[in-house]
Parts: sequence; C-alpha cells; structure tokens
Amino acid sequence: MLQDLRVSVTDRCNFRCLYCLPETEEAANFYQNRFGQPPASAARITRQWQHHDRILTFEEIERVVTLAAGLGIEKVRLTGGEPLLRQQLEKLVEKIARIPGIRDLALTSNGFFFPRKATALRDAGLRRVSFSLDSLDSANFKKITGRDGLELVLESIDLARELGLQPVKVNAVMIRGINDHEIESLAEFALRKNLVFRFIEFMPLDSGRAWHRELVVPGREILQRLQARYALQPVAGRHASETAQRWALPGGQAEIGIIAPVSEPFCGHCNRLRLTADGKIRACLFSMAEHDLRGLLRAGAADEAIRDFLREVVWQKEARHHIGEAEFVQPARTMSCIGG
Ligand code: 5AD
Ligand code: SF4
Repeated sequence: MLQDLRVSVTDRCNFRCLYCLPETEEAANFYQNRFGQPPASAARITRQWQHHDRILTFEEIERVVTLAAGLGIEKVRLTGGEPLLRQQLEKLVEKIARIPGIRDLALTSNGFFFPRKATALRDAGLRRVSFSLDSLDSANFKKITGRDGLELVLESIDLARELGLQPVKVNAVMIRGINDHEIESLAEFALRKNLVFRFIEFMPLDSGRAWHRELVVPGREILQRLQARYALQPVAGRHASETAQRWALPGGQAEIGIIAPVSEPFCGHCNRLRLTADGKIRACLFSMAEHDLRGLLRAGAADEAIRDFLREVVWQKEARHHIGEAEFVQPARTMSCIGG
C-alpha cells in the first residue's frame, strides 16, 4: 500500500512561477525570446479556479485521511496551489494531527504568507515545512515567481527553524538560462542555513504548456557541479520510495537532494497518492486518469466503499510516466492544481 498522501487544499496561488503558472509578462518575454512563442497561458487564461462548492471541506478531507490512514497512509503533506490561501488552514492541521496512524504532517508553501500563520500552524500540530526558493537574487526571484517575495521567503525559512519545524526543506526548480547560474550559491545558502535543499528538474506540468526539454537542467549536471566544489557524502535513504538522491554537505547538517524525474525516472518505487482540492484522487502527477472521490463522498458512500475505491486506485496506479516518449501527453491539470 502507499504511505504518502498529498492533499491539495486549494488550486489558487498568489505566485505565478514560470514553471507552473507562466502568466506574467516576464514569463511571456522569456519564452518569446527563447522559442519565438509565448506560453499558451499568456494569450488566454487557460486555467480556471475551481468554484467553492467543488472544493472539499475540512470535514471531507479529514474523513478521507482517516480512511487512508486505515489503509497504511502514514505521511500527509498539505499542498496547493498555495495552501496558506485556504482560510483557517490551522483547523485542518489540527484535525489531521489527531488522526491515529498519521505520524508525519508537513506543508509545502511558497513562503509568502507563512510568517503570518507559522505559530498557529505549529501549535495546531504541523511538524515540517517545505518552501520554494529558486533564486537568491531579488530581481531573478521576481522574474521566476512574478512576486517580490524573496525577503518574506527568507524570513519564513528562519522562522520555521526557530519554531522547530525541522528539518526545513527548500525546493528549487532549475531552469536553463534562468537560475542554473545560481546552483552553487543556492548550495552555499543551504550549507549556511543547515537546510535540506532539493534541486528539482523542470517537469512538463506548467499551465502554459511551455515546457521544453532544453530547459531541463539534468540532475547529473547539477551533481557534477556541486561535486566539483564540495566533498559530498551520499546519505542512505531511509525509504526505498525516496524520490531524491541525497547528499550531505560537509561541515553541518545541511543536505542536498537532487530530484530528477525527467532524466532519471523513479516511478517504480513511488509510493504517493494525491488528493486534489476538488476531491479527485490521482495516483501520479502525470496520470491522465483521475478518480472522483468527491462524488462518492457527497453521495453518502459508506467507509468501506471509500476504502475499496482507494484500494482500487492504488491497484491501477500506472507503472511509470512517459515524458520524452512520442506518445507523451501533458495532463490537463497543472502542478498548481495537483500540488506537487
Ligand atoms: N516542475 C518541477 N517542479 C515543479 N513545481 C511546481 N511546478 C513544477 C514543475 N513544472 C514544484 C515547486 C514547488 C512545488 C510545490 O512544486 O518546486 O516547490
Ligand atoms: Fe509557484 Fe507553487 Fe504557486 Fe505554482 S503553486 S505558482 S509553484 S508558488
């Protein structure tokens, strides 16, 4: 059975990351200059936020997590969009933290609203956080995310550590010609702040369908550049299902992770299940199929029927993704809807 459930609590976001919701002028210019064509999303808004009624309530999410815990799910990560846009998220955290069997409860956030919410979330039972930080240069940060948010994210990272939400994880999506010149400085930052810092390959999940293989900085290249600078020590993963290749940076607790789903797929040992904000179950980021759990919940299904449904989805989980193959089709849902 799968152990890790990612729960998206909203499909909305206050950022417009180039690799996720490339709808800013900067994103349009970048793609225009590079490929002679702006992302599809620049011409027309291809994404629509889900209507409120379609979004699962906290009670519905609590029920799903409780049933999933009965089937072996032990880790829950709250994602978005930007999860902190969901009002009173701490109430959901409190509900999930109480569910027997859930031993790890984490949050993935862009860090912008975290300083306002941090204490309430920690007090409600949140254990860990991951932030996105793709650049340490404020102009480049703005170019990538569409927001002037660098200072707030830096503040969030320090605050999370002070509150004991450790280890603090930070994700950076590397894009050729955008932030690949910052690989070394990001690693230096990880070392200085004792972070678990993960470099992620750009995946074809953006709303603009602007992904291009040339923009992917292969994990191997990132590793070679870091090895040229640091004596990296491999960290033995605790779980076979880990998606990152992990390396310890010398002289601290900092760790580098390289997540290379495009150049080195790890689908075979993925143990994740995803629940979208509107109540669909996805067994893979790249699934073309979604399984409608909301319909079942709202039709008054019994616990056993929901458990059977979850088991069935896991059985049908696809063996691997097909990025790079002729027949690959980007799923209709983007990362901002699926939640990473
Ligand atoms: N490719 C890789 N990672 C992505 N994320 C969002 N979109 C993409 C993409 N196209 C990651 C970001 C963020 C997390 C929620 O999802 O790193 O931290
Ligand atoms: Fe960026 Fe995350 Fe928002 Fe997507 S959902 S635009 S990755 S902050």
